[in-house]
Amino acid sequence: MQKNIHRLKDYRQPDFTVLQTDLHFDIESEYTTVKSHLLVRAQNAGVPCVLDGSAELLEIKLNGVRLPENTYELSEEKLSIAADQIPHNDFVLEITTRVYPAQNKSLMGLYASSGNLYTQCEPEGFRKITYYFDRPDVMSVFTTTMVADKKHYPVLLSNGNLIDSGSLNHERHWVKWQDPFAKPSYLFALVAGDLAVSEDTFTTQSGKAVALKFYTRAEDAAKTDFALASLKNAMRWDETRFGLEYDLDIYMVVAVGDFNMGAMENKGLNIFNTKYVLADSTSATDADFEGIESVIGHEYFHNWTGNRVTCRDWFQLSLKEGLTVFRDQEFSGDRAGRAVRRIQNVRALRSLQFPEDAGPTAHPVRPASYEEINNFYTMTVYEKGAEVVRLYHTLLGEDGFQRGMKLYFQRYDGQAVTCDDFRQAMADANGRDFSQMALWYSQAGTPLLEIKSHYDAKQRTFTLNCKQSIPPTPEMAEKQPMLIPIKIGLLSKNGQTTSFRLPENSHAQDEAVLLLTQSEQDFVLHDVSEAVIPSLLRGFSAPVKLNDERSDEDLMLLLAHDSDEFSRWEAGQTLYRRAIAANLAALSTGKTVPEHALLAKAMNEALNTDLDPAYKALLLQMPSEAELWEDDIGINPLLYVEARETVLDGLSAALSDTINRWCQWCHEQEENSQYENPAAYHPDLAGVRSFLNALRQWLIRANPDRITDIHREYTRLAKNMTHEWGILHSINHLDNANRDALLAQFVEYHANNALVMDKYFSLVASSARSDTLTRVQAAMQHPAFSLENPNKVRALLGTFSRNVRHFHAENGEGYAFMVEQILRIDIFNPQVASRLLQAFNLRSKLEPKRQALMTQALQQLQQQADLSRDSREVLDKILVS
Ligand code: TRP
Ligand code: ZN
Repeated sequence: MQKNIHRLKDYRQPDFTVLQTDLHFDIESEYTTVKSHLLVRAQNAGVPCVLDGSAELLEIKLNGVRLPENTYELSEEKLSIAADQIPHNDFVLEITTRVYPAQNKSLMGLYASSGNLYTQCEPEGFRKITYYFDRPDVMSVFTTTMVADKKHYPVLLSNGNLIDSGSLNHERHWVKWQDPFAKPSYLFALVAGDLAVSEDTFTTQSGKAVALKFYTRAEDAAKTDFALASLKNAMRWDETRFGLEYDLDIYMVVAVGDFNMGAMENKGLNIFNTKYVLADSTSATDADFEGIESVIGHEYFHNWTGNRVTCRDWFQLSLKEGLTVFRDQEFSGDRAGRAVRRIQNVRALRSLQFPEDAGPTAHPVRPASYEEINNFYTMTVYEKGAEVVRLYHTLLGEDGFQRGMKLYFQRYDGQAVTCDDFRQAMADANGRDFSQMALWYSQAGTPLLEIKSHYDAKQRTFTLNCKQSIPPTPEMAEKQPMLIPIKIGLLSKNGQTTSFRLPENSHAQDEAVLLLTQSEQDFVLHDVSEAVIPSLLRGFSAPVKLNDERSDEDLMLLLAHDSDEFSRWEAGQTLYRRAIAANLAALSTGKTVPEHALLAKAMNEALNTDLDPAYKALLLQMPSEAELWEDDIGINPLLYVEARETVLDGLSAALSDTINRWCQWCHEQEENSQYENPAAYHPDLAGVRSFLNALRQWLIRANPDRITDIHREYTRLAKNMTHEWGILHSINHLDNANRDALLAQFVEYHANNALVMDKYFSLVASSARSDTLTRVQAAMQHPAFSLENPNKVRALLGTFSRNVRHFHAENGEGYAFMVEQILRIDIFNPQVASRLLQAFNLRSKLEPKRQALMTQALQQLQQQADLSRDSREVLDKILVS
């Protein structure tokens, strides 16, 4: 297949726009016939009318006249009507296509799931339904008429308001929906099927009543309460924090078990993965509840950041995704535990986005080119994009940021715009020059910050020497210095906050945001009374790596006293990183690993405080392997596992008493809680349980024979999924009959709950046990497993590919196994296959033997002539790296 690369610099305005789109869906059991009626306006004269599409074309009419076949060309992905056919005035296109939802396993376009019909159109799914100008800068109002069998499809939904409905005959009925807001085709949605509805209402700040409707399978209707409450919280929050109100009379959410991603923000008709809607405390963990709250928020916030103001083209994807992730992070932070949420987000960024930015698929927040846009729904576009939005917030403060948002909506409501437009609104609303900020959108790679400090007792000055460098990435070798805000504070040697004065000010202050704009800069702080310890990059004020010259002793002091909760946690992380590096060095040279007595002591003290238990749970999390090997070459992944594990072994043994004591404390907190049902999700008890689950890991590591107590505890606590999960997780690595028995009991009990079975599959695939691959292969035969269901594939195969020990097995069987599965999936769901393929990103950095094994496995894919565009693009990047 010939490569077709799309480039940002080639953007051109569309030749045609659509003034009105009227769709008619005739739903039969085997197929659906789609009639589209478009009022089209040419923007340029004398050009052919090219529509995107790949559906079976039945008929095409222009101004009511059927087009003869020699007046248009139909290729695999386009329909091109000859320029001489195009009238001078606005014209009507009527296009009839036929689609086969039951055969569509890509889960893009119109597809069937358990007998119901759903759509997924972002980014380019609409063209699988009908021929259209399927690009986000073509915006139109839509009406949708649906005709279907009453019994099989009692519920018929589309965007906007229901304006008419009726009965055709005994068997068939019809409905007509109208969406008054012009939108691009990617926001179109339709659902048809037999679904139960859970209802509520929300009154907006201006007094308008909005009907909230959640559609699920009948047996799941009881599990929507939390999602509904989250939606109301999100609606209220967007009014109070951003002054943004909902704009339709109805907001619908439909849950579907087969879905490629988390959820989709279609106007007025969100479609959600069941994972982000259905929950009760017997089947969902506290983390699942928190995931629901944030995804419900995310899709709701898209109504303004994404739908009312949308993207000009897909290069601008981060315009809506980075901004909306920022908004959902702020929502979650305002709901509960701001510092804890911030640390969780940074952990995800570091273990997933940093490696992406350092690997063969690295790309800027605004990519410069792509072959398949589906490959660009990435951690970089979403999470790094959110960090870039956060930079404006750090630079401008809340008020300045809100001024920027206000101007953004004033200027661009109803339009399809670019990341530059957003940056300009932020700058203009605050009288700032943000031209250097453009580099955050165009340069890939995580900037490296090096900070050295020096105290001058005579001058009473403290100087921070800051250097930045940005590593080369596949499409860009040389980089320019970026604008990096560095938030700092100072601590005295006994841990007190120490004030300072900036040269431009006359007053003293405890905290400052330094603006690094050059490759190297000195910042001099005045009136500093003693030799201090700097607290750097507070709150993770920029998405960078920090090379840190502070001593272990200084970091321990920060771990004990820093008033900034992020930096305090970060001090612990840096100490962990250093300890793991020391063990790695010892292991690679055949020496015994050092003891880390001082680290153990510091951690012990940090745990024996009255810090928030959710925060302590995070103190117990060590950096992931992926975060550790990022900048290395010639990697033996198993050495990293061992280095990390030996640090954990040492610490958990040294802290054994403390661990036991806090386990006890957690149990008491829950037993003595004031809640009527402590097993239910409550943010504070969720914190206690997350601490307990982290402790359980350390406890079992130090005392594997405690599994018998754990077994007893399991029987008692199995009514709460957070406990159940934490217990199973803690013993998941033990080669022990008790572990097998508990896991078997778990499966038997939850066999009919698809979402809980995902947890089972991920337990099987994440185990350290030597029989893990065999068990994964066996699990694929389980009746609850299906290669066609993305949740199942992610739970079993996605988890396995992150199981360092087994994916990187020395004999290459992990690589061969994954390639075999990717080949099978690629045939029907390229999006899922190409995502799995990114597990191989490490190829060029591996030690020679593994690298050869991995390359050999990938050659299997290379030889597959009809590999999807999605997988081909990723494979090529991995192989040239
Ligand atoms: N816009 C969706 C979001 O909120 C992303 C999404 C959902 C998506 N489903 C998809 C992207 C399918 C590509 C394909 O993040
Ligand atoms: Zn989104």
